[in-house]
Amino acid sequence: MPSPQATRVLFVCLGNFCRSPAAEAIMRDLAPDLSVDSAGTSGWHVGTPPYEPMVAAAARRGIDLRTLRGRKVAHSDFDDFDLIIGMDEDNLRDLHILSPGSRTSQVRLLMDFAPAQQERAVPDPYYTRDFDAALDLIEAGCAGLLEWLDRADR
Ligand code: 4NP
Repeated sequence: MPSPQATRVLFVCLGNFCRSPAAEAIMRDLAPDLSVDSAGTSGWHVGTPPYEPMVAAAARRGIDLRTLRGRKVAHSDFDDFDLIIGMDEDNLRDLHILSPGSRTSQVRLLMDFAPAQQERAVPDPYYTRDFDAALDLIEAGCAGLLEWLDRADR
């Protein structure tokens, strides 16, 4: 894995409409020098800004999602990013299906980086409607990811 600043991180969820755009913006605020992007395992929201209720919930925390646009995971992502980070087990399963035969990326769950949290997945707020609960978990995961990147022994 390259140095923290040189690590390229792709956050992935189903729609690239709620969770992964939030993770992208939160991580960029935490580590402005890091190369960060997000994408969906579906192509349902390609080219559109994130979901308005998530944009509003993030804005209440000072996180701006309005400039982001949806895109689908591409084959090239598996070479272009060092870390591909899914929000739940369904994302990992779909990433496995979308992955080309060989890849350089490590694929992980966001909550792997926040072991003190009970949850192993970020529940999809598009269905739960609890945007703040999702943001709390994403913030914890991103903080843990930053600590992990800064550790020499990773
Ligand atoms: P996300 O949530 O995976 O966190 O972006 C979803 C957003 C939209 C849909 C599903 C999940 N959808 O069915 O359109």
